[in-house]
Amino acid sequence: MRRKDFLQFSGLLGIGSLLSAFRLGDNSISKTSPIADRIRTKGIDGSAFDLKADPIPKVRIALAGLGNRGTSLIDMLSWLVKEGHAEITAISDINPNKVQKALEKIRSFQTNVPATFTGSDEAWKDAFRPEVADLALICTPWEWHTPMALHAMRNGIHAASEVPIAYTPDDCLELIRTSEETKQHCIMLENCCYNQEELWLLRMIEEGVFGTVTHAECAYLHDLRQHMLDPTYYEDQWRLKHHLKRDGNLYTTHGLGPVCMYFDILRGDNLSHLTSMSSKEAALSEALRGSEDPAMQALANQVVCGDVNTTLIGTEQGRSIMLQFDVHSGRPYTRLDKVVGSKATHYGYPSRLYIDHGPTWGGHGWSEDAQKAEYQDRYAHPLWTRLQKLADEHEQGHGGMDFVMMYRLIRCLNKGVSLDLNIYDGALWSLVGALSEESVANGSARMDIPDLTNGRWKTPVPHPVGREI
Ligand SMILES: NC(=O)c1ccc[n+]([C@@H]2O[C@H](COP(=O)([O-])OP(=O)(O)OC[C@H]3O[C@@H](n4cnc5c(N)ncnc54)[C@H](O)[C@@H]3O)[C@@H](O)[C@H]2O)c1
Repeated sequence: MRRKDFLQFSGLLGIGSLLSAFRLGDNSISKTSPIADRIRTKGIDGSAFDLKADPIPKVRIALAGLGNRGTSLIDMLSWLVKEGHAEITAISDINPNKVQKALEKIRSFQTNVPATFTGSDEAWKDAFRPEVADLALICTPWEWHTPMALHAMRNGIHAASEVPIAYTPDDCLELIRTSEETKQHCIMLENCCYNQEELWLLRMIEEGVFGTVTHAECAYLHDLRQHMLDPTYYEDQWRLKHHLKRDGNLYTTHGLGPVCMYFDILRGDNLSHLTSMSSKEAALSEALRGSEDPAMQALANQVVCGDVNTTLIGTEQGRSIMLQFDVHSGRPYTRLDKVVGSKATHYGYPSRLYIDHGPTWGGHGWSEDAQKAEYQDRYAHPLWTRLQKLADEHEQGHGGMDFVMMYRLIRCLNKGVSLDLNIYDGALWSLVGALSEESVANGSARMDIPDLTNGRWKTPVPHPVGREI
């Protein structure tokens, strides 16, 4: 069909405006997205990007949420406490038994006994005060992350929250505004940014081994059915409840965080738009139906979160990211960790590297183990190498990445330097989850991702995780 005829034809069908909106580089289609009009970044000035606070020689920590994660982060703090870099001054949980258990653990490595706060779901408020602590460490169910972080900052202490730090656009923006206004740090504790493989890839990308990085695939694929059905694993089965109310990517950050480091997101590039699709739901409801507990069986028809959510994200510099979420299906754990560049490619789980030898090579296989080992050796991240030695000496767990994360947070606060990850990182990675839900609810509509930094992302800077502190 000739162009003129085509335009007449499309005009007849009334799709001319739609086609013009889809023209390359024209973002106008996104203006129709329900959320693009709602997200107002007015007032955000980017001033908390490299936020520094006064050095805190010994960081006093108030920890809320003493379940699976809170307890394991207590272990990560033991060496820092013994070295005099930190002290756990307060602990809080709605469940008094968990408070007692945490207290016993802390007593094994800390002389001063922390104050305890329990008995109501707002008891933590008495702990998040400058008289008690310098840092609020938040390890509660998701719905408490934003209110707790906001309360901490507004009352004059820094906030560090488990992932995701928020799951609505309004909460993401409020966290940024509050950190800017109060000049308090607000960090989302994305531990996978500190994992050995991810730091190794980051270093290779920074050293040019990958050439121009163009595409990444990342995920959180973790069969959590057993935990979600167990009435004792998550307090009050909070995690299952989210799957009864929400559909989209509910846990973006373990996959997306490291990729945003690889792609200089907020440090020269930015996430610009996304579209998201959820598959039909089957595995979780089948598991609930098969449970022997009638209360679980009764929930089977209420699951709304699809088994597999796939979100495609575009960046301002034209890179693409495929991000997946699935905690329902039976399959092995993976975060994918795939990165494609003009000179090299990496696939994770298991880790495979391909070094390009030019267009005439036509290779079909991954690099030999010996060649990969050479690259692992040559580009091992110095932060990992130095701290892993320390972690091994002090038997710190979780593959070491949790210890590296906690070490960096506390030592940055000790020294009064900016943190490795700022509130814009945490808010952006969390916002992708919120927008994926909106996209799914609107037939996989394109969602614009607003600039959360007031243009700050346009200045290329090396990722601060590589700094010596
Ligand atoms: N980064 C990681 O690798 C990782 C791993 C596991 C969990 N997490 C995150 O950690 C958080 C907690 O997960 P979990 O597995 O420990 O869940 P959990 O249910 O074991 O622990 C949550 C704890 O918070 C307590 N709590 C609930 N409301 C409270 C309130 N108002 N005040 C004080 N305490 C309250 C509960 O009683 C419970 O002990 C979640 O955000 C989860 O996403 C992160």
